[in-house]
Amino acid sequence: MKIIGIWGSPRKGGNSELLLNAFLEGAREAGAEVERIALRELKISPCLEIYHCFKDGTCPIKDDMLPLYDKLLAADVVALASPIFFYSLSAQAKAMIDRTQALWSRRYHLNQDFPGPERQGVLLCTGATQGKLLFVSARLVARYFFDAINVTYAAEILVRGVDQKGAILEKPEVLDQAKDLGRRLAQGEKFGPVKLSPLAV
Ligand SMILES: Cc1cc2nc3c(=O)[nH]c(=O)nc-3n(C[C@H](O)[C@H](O)[C@H](O)COP(=O)(O)O)c2cc1C
Repeated sequence: MKIIGIWGSPRKGGNSELLLNAFLEGAREAGAEVERIALRELKISPCLEIYHCFKDGTCPIKDDMLPLYDKLLAADVVALASPIFFYSLSAQAKAMIDRTQALWSRRYHLNQDFPGPERQGVLLCTGATQGKLLFVSARLVARYFFDAINVTYAAEILVRGVDQKGAILEKPEVLDQAKDLGRRLAQGEKFGPVKLSPLAV
């Protein structure tokens, strides 16, 4: 069982990192092969919209996204962790997602063989406020990201009211939930698909 955790916050030791770490700890303890990918340490250009990927499913931009394509295809579980920035995912997360247009192209434009959909995707999100609509955009983006890479949108943990670095430590029940989810996914349990109706949760 290969589980990758993609962490999209620029802030080290922040809430989404702590949430992802708990998730990955559970997965590791249950025997999964775990890899954490810190987008803040990578140089990933935004998509340049040149449609090279429509020719052969590859992206000609030579940057740190290249190894990620294979990792996204090889993973049994893809977890995406991000803070809410202006009611959406972080720019780091969104740039990475936009670059998976190359995989979308393989799947939908070139109709190539593609691993999936027994593979599973998880969204882990943290935001400061309590608004009902806080995760609407992030959930929609995650839905179409997971679709592009052909993993089932299996589960999500959406944490409101955490702003200061480490504030999530005051919600140990949420970290326990993340750890438990990681453990269960590593053991092969199937979840979802997450229903996006209603979008506001
Ligand atoms: C640029 C920026 C934009 C933000 N926008 C929102 C927002 O729209 N809604 C919200 O509730 N919190 C917002 N926040 C707060 C973060 O989502 C919150 O502090 C989160 O827990 C940070 O997670 P991290 O520590 O993993 O980066 C914003 C923070 C920053 C720095």
